[in-house]
Amino acid sequence: MKIVVLGGDGFCGWPASLHLSALGNEVTIVDNFSRRRIDEELGAGSLTPIRSNAERRAAWAEATGRHLDLVELDVATDYERLLDLLVTLRPDAIVHFAEQRSAPYSMKSSRHKRYTVNNNVNATDNVLCAIVESGLDIHLVHLGTMGVYGYGTAGMKIPEGYLDVAVNGEAGEMHREILYPTSPGSIYHMTKVLDQDLFAYYAKNDALRITDLHQGIIWGTSTPETQLDERLVNRFDYDGDYGTVLNRFLVQAAVGYPLTVHGTGGQTRAFIHIQDMTRCIELALANPPERGVRVKIFNQMTETHRVRDLAAMVARLTGAVVENVPDPRNEADENELHVTAEAFLDLGLHPTTLSQGLLGEINQTAAKYRDRVDFAHIPARSLWTKDRQPGIPAAYREDSPGGLPTDPVTAIDAG
Ligand SMILES: NC(=O)c1ccc[n+]([C@@H]2O[C@H](COP(=O)([O-])OP(=O)(O)OC[C@H]3O[C@@H](n4cnc5c(N)ncnc54)[C@H](O)[C@@H]3O)[C@@H](O)[C@H]2O)c1
Repeated sequence: MKIVVLGGDGFCGWPASLHLSALGNEVTIVDNFSRRRIDEELGAGSLTPIRSNAERRAAWAEATGRHLDLVELDVATDYERLLDLLVTLRPDAIVHFAEQRSAPYSMKSSRHKRYTVNNNVNATDNVLCAIVESGLDIHLVHLGTMGVYGYGTAGMKIPEGYLDVAVNGEAGEMHREILYPTSPGSIYHMTKVLDQDLFAYYAKNDALRITDLHQGIIWGTSTPETQLDERLVNRFDYDGDYGTVLNRFLVQAAVGYPLTVHGTGGQTRAFIHIQDMTRCIELALANPPERGVRVKIFNQMTETHRVRDLAAMVARLTGAVVENVPDPRNEADENELHVTAEAFLDLGLHPTTLSQGLLGEINQTAAKYRDRVDFAHIPARSLWTKDRQPGIPAAYREDSPGGLPTDPVTAIDAG
């Protein structure tokens, strides 16, 4: 297939592009490198030494003989060039990762909220409009989030996108299928809710073929393709804005920083390994919906865990200390999460479980690059409302009696 990967320089987009290229597809990456600029804005950076996109693509060509194209453009603002690209290239499919994806970043200030809404919603609408205007039958695969369902206790198994409801209609009880009611927990999650309605509209009005992947939190960094050459290394965010919870615990353990559990750590979340994400994209592309049918929604996750249980698991493997810190987010302290996620298993996904992969991640990535960790960027400081507190461990608070520790506490090796 000819595939355009929007956001193909990012944490998910890069390994997905390599995987699709390795399978023999013709892959064109589109990115505006906004994520790299956000690193500069935050003064933060990937734990792993990621290379420029040009160097990455050259390394891929050297390692495999396969070619990746790059088009630098802003999907949210450069509609004409996006349309031109589709008309010229005539891709079979587009995989859409090109959004601002950090919930904490989206909550930092009015500017960050507005940027996230403008960027994400316009990017999605531009892609949909351009597919319609091109007149091409392009399958769109979008990366959404499990967070659209919200993180309260549902009291039921969350279905894959659609809910059967019975309502009292004019002629008695009627049965309907609706999009599962949303309850976004941040402005970022809100943009994914808005995306979901855009998809429903364009599938209905223009018969576009759309797959929306409600993805869990990614853990892990490497895939077989990124491991082929050091220059192909994927990004690994550990900072308080972009680091995902388990990857943050792995880095904290590797440098002897307390594992920062927000509040009671009773939040239950859905997870998926990065390698399984790339496989799910492959499966979604191979199984597109028909024209004229509703959006196909998959829950792209393989396990659910409570945050405090994850911390305990990492602590058990590494000897790290767990510390409950204030929760900067406005969220339920405790929630249950039961999810239906059979569709990908039925298509042949064999999940990488935490129990199989965790130790490898600690040793191969977190411990390997721990000298690059900047302690100042570890805690989550973005507050959902003014009355929340940042998630900083007691010894690292500015008012700590002993002053701030400057050096890493003894680093811990797993295994
Ligand atoms: N990382 C996770 O745990 C996770 C979980 C669930 C869903 N997702 C979704 O997967 C997608 C990718 O996430 P990620 O972790 O790879 O994020 P990322 O920030 O690492 O990558 C996103 C990429 O898109 C690019 N981009 C953003 N806006 C763009 C625009 N307007 N035009 C062109 N390029 C643009 C960025 O430069 C970046 O390279 C996101 O939509 C995110 O919501 C990620």
